[in-house]
Amino acid sequence: MILDQTLLPDQEKWLTIENTEQLIKVVQNLSVRGAPLLGLAGIYGLFYTAKLAKDYSHFLILAKEIRNARPTAINLSKMIDQELLKCVNTNNLDTLQEIFLSDAFALEKNLEKESLKISQHGLPVLETNDCVLTHCNTGSLATIGLGTALGVIKFAYSQGKNISVFFTETRPLLQGARLTSYELMQVNIPSTMIIDDAVGFFMQQKKVNKVIVGADRIAANGDTANKIGTYTIAVLAHENSIPFYIAAPTSTIDLATKTGNEISIEFRDPTELNPFIKKCQINSINPAFDVTPEKYITGFITEKGILKPPFS
Ligand code: MRU
Repeated sequence: MILDQTLLPDQEKWLTIENTEQLIKVVQNLSVRGAPLLGLAGIYGLFYTAKLAKDYSHFLILAKEIRNARPTAINLSKMIDQELLKCVNTNNLDTLQEIFLSDAFALEKNLEKESLKISQHGLPVLETNDCVLTHCNTGSLATIGLGTALGVIKFAYSQGKNISVFFTETRPLLQGARLTSYELMQVNIPSTMIIDDAVGFFMQQKKVNKVIVGADRIAANGDTANKIGTYTIAVLAHENSIPFYIAAPTSTIDLATKTGNEISIEFRDPTELNPFIKKCQINSINPAFDVTPEKYITGFITEKGILKPPFS
C-alpha cells in the first residue's frame, strides 16, 4: 500500500498496488516519488511481477518497464539491476518472489537506518539561529524514516537547535507547497514557504544562510541531478556566499556516470505547467530535473559522513 502523494495534503488516501501496470502508473504520476522510495517501490514491483508474469521472459520484459518508468533517479534502475543479477542463479519465479520480498524488507530497514545516519552527520552543519532553505520534498514521504535534506533539518530541530526553514513551493507539481509543508507542520518547525523565484530575493536580504537539498543522481565527479530549480538555487547561493549542501544516501551516487552531462533528464507532460496550454497552443517544455555542477556544492551529507568528490 502506498500513500497517494498526489492528493496530499488535502486527502490521506492509501492505494493498494497489486500488479506491474499499477506500480508503473503510480511511479509515473508521482503518487509514489523521491529517489530512495522509488528504489524500494521498484523491488516491490519486481515481487508482483514475478508473481503474475506468464513465464520468466515475460517477467524480464515487465521488469525492464519498471526500470525505465522514470529515468533520472538512479535508485530505481540501480535497485532493479541489482535484483536482476540474482536471476543469474535461478529463473524460478517462486524463488525470485521470495528473494525480492525479503530484499524489499531489508532495504526498507536499511533506508530507515541510513536516513538517521544522514541526519546525524548533518547535525554539525546547522547552527542555532540558522535559516536553512530547502527545495522539493526530501522527508519521510520521499524515503523511509526521517528523510535526507529534510531529515537533517528535522533532526537538528529535535536536538534543540533553534533553526528555521524557508522552503520553495517547487513548481510545477508543488512538492514543497504540498508535501514539505505537510511534513514541517507535523513537527512544528518555524517555516516559511516562498515561490521558487523568490530564492534570490531572500538570499540578498540575508534571510537565508544555508541550503540543504536532496539528490536524484550524483555523478562520480559530484555533479548532481535534483528537482528542477536546484541549479538556480546553487548559483544564487554561490553568488551570495551561502553554503550549499546535498544530503543523500551513497546509493544515489552513480559511479558509472562520470559527469552530469551523462545524466538522463526526465521531461514531463507540458500540461503540468499550465492547464490552459492545450487551449491556447503555446509551445512549452517541462524538464523535471536539472544538474548542479559540483563546484557549487559545499559537501555531500551521506550516511558515511560528509563527503567530497570525486567518488570512487
Ligand atoms: O519528481 P520527484 O518529486 O520524485 O523529485 C524528487 C526530488 O527531486 C528529491 O529532491 C530527490 O528525489 C531526493 S528525495 C530524498
